[in-house]
Amino acid sequence: MAIIHTLLAIASLPLADLASAERVLGAYIFQRHGDRTAKGLPPTKLTDLGYNQEYMTGNFFHERYISASSQNHIEGISSSVVNLAQISASAPQDTVIQISGQAFLQGLYPPVGSAANETLRNGTTVYSPLSGYQLIPMGDVQSGSSSEDNTWLQSTSECNNAEVSSNDYFYSSSYQQLLSSTSSLYKSLESNLNNTVSSSGLSFKNAFTIWDLLNVASIHNASASIPSDAVMEELLVLANTHEFNLAYNSSEPIRAVAGMTLAGEVLTSLNKTISSGGKSKLNIQFGAYATFLAYFGLAGLSNNVNFTGMPVYASSMTWELVTNTSGTGMPSESDINVRFLFHNGTSIEGSTELEAYPLFGQSDVEIPWTQFVDSTKKFAITSQQQWCQACGNSTGICSSTSDSSSNASSSKSSSSGGMSLAVAGVIGAMVTLGVLAGLTALLLLVFNLRLVRKSTLASLGRGSETSITPVAEKAA
Ligand SMILES: *[C@@H]1O[C@H](CO)[C@@H](O)[C@H](O)[C@H]1NC(C)=O
Ligand SMILES: *[C@@H]1O[C@H](CO)[C@@H](O)[C@H](O)[C@H]1NC(C)=O
Ligand SMILES: *[C@@H]1O[C@H](CO)[C@@H](O)[C@H](O)[C@H]1NC(C)=O
Ligand SMILES: *[C@@H]1O[C@H](CO)[C@@H](O)[C@H](O)[C@H]1NC(C)=O
Ligand SMILES: *[C@@H]1O[C@H](CO)[C@@H](O)[C@H](O)[C@H]1NC(C)=O
Ligand SMILES: *[C@@H]1O[C@H](CO)[C@@H](O)[C@H](O)[C@H]1NC(C)=O
Ligand SMILES: *[C@@H]1O[C@H](CO)[C@@H](O)[C@H](O)[C@H]1NC(C)=O
Ligand SMILES: *[C@@H]1O[C@H](CO)[C@@H](O)[C@H](O)[C@H]1NC(C)=O
Ligand SMILES: *[C@@H]1O[C@H](CO)[C@@H](O)[C@H](O)[C@H]1NC(C)=O
Ligand SMILES: *[C@@H]1O[C@H](CO)[C@@H](O)[C@H](O)[C@H]1NC(C)=O
Ligand SMILES: *[C@@H]1O[C@H](CO)[C@@H](O)[C@H](O)[C@H]1NC(C)=O
Repeated sequence: MAIIHTLLAIASLPLADLASAERVLGAYIFQRHGDRTAKGLPPTKLTDLGYNQEYMTGNFFHERYISASSQNHIEGISSSVVNLAQISASAPQDTVIQISGQAFLQGLYPPVGSAANETLRNGTTVYSPLSGYQLIPMGDVQSGSSSEDNTWLQSTSECNNAEVSSNDYFYSSSYQQLLSSTSSLYKSLESNLNNTVSSSGLSFKNAFTIWDLLNVASIHNASASIPSDAVMEELLVLANTHEFNLAYNSSEPIRAVAGMTLAGEVLTSLNKTISSGGKSKLNIQFGAYATFLAYFGLAGLSNNVNFTGMPVYASSMTWELVTNTSGTGMPSESDINVRFLFHNGTSIEGSTELEAYPLFGQSDVEIPWTQFVDSTKKFAITSQQQWCQACGNSTGICSSTSDSSSNASSSKSSSSGGMSLAVAGVIGAMVTLGVLAGLTALLLLVFNLRLVRKSTLASLGRGSETSITPVAEKAA
C-alpha cells in the first residue's frame, strides 16, 4: 500500500514549469530480458536479480510514458488503470523472456489498489487480487522461441537463408584468424570453467557460451574462480565479435533477419498509432540481444563500434513518435517525427537515462515520419510472404495453400496471390498465444486445451486488440 500511495503522490505532483511543447504520440519499446542463469547450463532461468531489473525498467517507463506528470507522457494514455486498447505486448515462447515481460509490465502498470474495483448489479464491490494487480496479455512472436536455452545465435530465427549466412561466418578468414590467435587464451580457461565446457570446446568457436558462463558465475557464484578483469574484458570483446558477425553482415542482409522482422513490426505498429488516430499508443516487445545487434547493423548504428557489442541485460531501445504542433489529436504525417533511443542496461528513474541516437547514418536524432518509413522499408519485412521469400523457405508455414495442419482456419483464406490477412491468420494459427503464461499453462493442464497461436507477423491483421481471444481446440 505504501508503494501505491507513493506512486499516487508522484502522479499528482504539479506539472513542472519546464514542460516542453513537444507531444509524444506513441512509442514502440524493444526490451531485453533480465539477468539469467548461463545458457550453457540449460534450462536457463530468470534470476531474482533479473526480475528486479525488469520490474525497475518497467517502472522507469511508467515514469516516462504513463505517469500523467511526465514530460514524455504519451498523449492520452491511461495513467493508472491500464486501457488494453492502448497497449500491446509480445514475447517469444521462452521462459526467460516471457517472465521478463511479465516483470516489466508489473512495473509499467503497477497495482492500483481499490481504483480497479468493480460494483456488481447487486451492489457488491469486487476488488482485484494482489492489491489491484493489473493483467496485461502478452501476444506471441514467432521467432526467438526457446532462445535463452540456445547458444547458437541463429537457431531460433527458423529462417533458412539466415542460418546458412550465419554459418558462413565460420568459414571466413577473419573467423579462422581469431580461432587460431586466441587458442591458448581459451585453453587457459579450463580450470575456471570446471568441466562445463569440454576441453575440445575451449576455443573461439564457443566464444559466447564461454564468456556467458564466466559472466554469470562472476555475478552469482561466490565459489567460482573468475579470470582477471582484463581477461574477462578480452573475452567479452571476442564474444561481441563472434555474435555480431553471426547477427549482421553488410554484404548479406538476410543474416540480420531478426532485425528486419523487428523493423517491420515497429513500422506497422507506429503506423497503426498514426492511422488509428492514436487509439493504439504503446507497443512493447521482449526479446534477446541478437535482435538488437541485427537492428543496430541494419539501421547504421553499428558504425559506432559500441553498437557492435551485446547490450547488457534489461537494455531497452525505443522509437518515439513526436510532434511540436500544438492542440490535440493526431497531427498530419508531415508534422510527425521519429526519435530512436537506447539504454544499455536497467533503467532506473533519476540515475540513468535513455539516450537518443541518429538512425540510418544521419546526424539528426529526429527524422520526419515519411523519411523513417522510406529508410525502414529498405530492409523491413512486413509480411509472412516477404519473410518466406527472403528466407528461401517453402515448407511449413511457407507452403501457402497446401498446409494440411492449418485446416481449421483455412476456410477463411482467400486465394489471392498476395499475403491476405486471412492467410496471415492461418500462419498465426501455428503459434500459441501466450496470454499470461502461468494461467495459460494451468488451463492447458486442466482442460487439455491448445491455444491458437498468433505471430507478430500475423498481427498485421490485428484489427483490434480484442482479436487476441484465445481459440480453444481439443488437443490430439
Ligand atoms: C471503488 O472505486 C471508485 C472509483 O475509483 C471509488 O470512487 C470508490 O470509492 C471505490 N470504492 C471502494 C469501496 O473502494
Ligand atoms: C452479488 O453477486 C455476486 C456474484 O454473483 C455474489 O457472489 C454475491 O454473493 C452477491 N451478493 C449479494 C449480497 O447478493
Ligand atoms: C525454414 O527452413 C529451415 C531449413 O530448412 C528450417 O529449419 C525451418 O524450420 C524453416 N522455417 C519455417 C518457419 O518453416
Ligand atoms: C560478410 O560475410 C562474409 C562471409 O561470412 C565474409 O567473408 C565477409 O568478410 C563479411 N563481411 C564483413 C563486412 O564482415
Ligand atoms: C567442479 O564441479 C564439481 C561438480 O561438478 C564439484 O564437485 C567440484 O568441487 C568443482 N571443482 C571446483 C574446483 O570447484
Ligand atoms: C559455482 O562454481 C563452482 C566452481 O566452479 C562449481 O562447482 C559450481 O557448480 C558453481 N555453482 C553454480 C550454481 O553454477
Ligand atoms: C499505414 O496504414 C495505412 C492504413 O492502414 C495504410 O494505408 C498505409 O499503407 C500504411 N503505411 C505504412 C508505411 O505501412
Ligand atoms: C562508447 O562507450 C564508451 C563507454 O560508455 C564511451 O566512453 C564512448 O564515448 C562511446 N563511444 C562512442 C563512439 O560513442
Ligand atoms: C553496452 O555495454 C556492453 C558491455 O559493456 C558493451 O559491450 C556494449 O558495447 C555497450 N553498447 C553500447 C551501445 O554502448
Ligand atoms: C520540436 O522542436 C525542437 C526544438 O526546436 C526540435 O529540435 C525538434 O526537431 C522539433 N520536433 C519536431 C517533431 O518538429
Ligand atoms: C482437414 O480437412 C479435411 C476435409 O475437410 C478433414 O477430413 C481433415 O480431418 C482435416 N484435417 C485436420 C487436421 O483438421
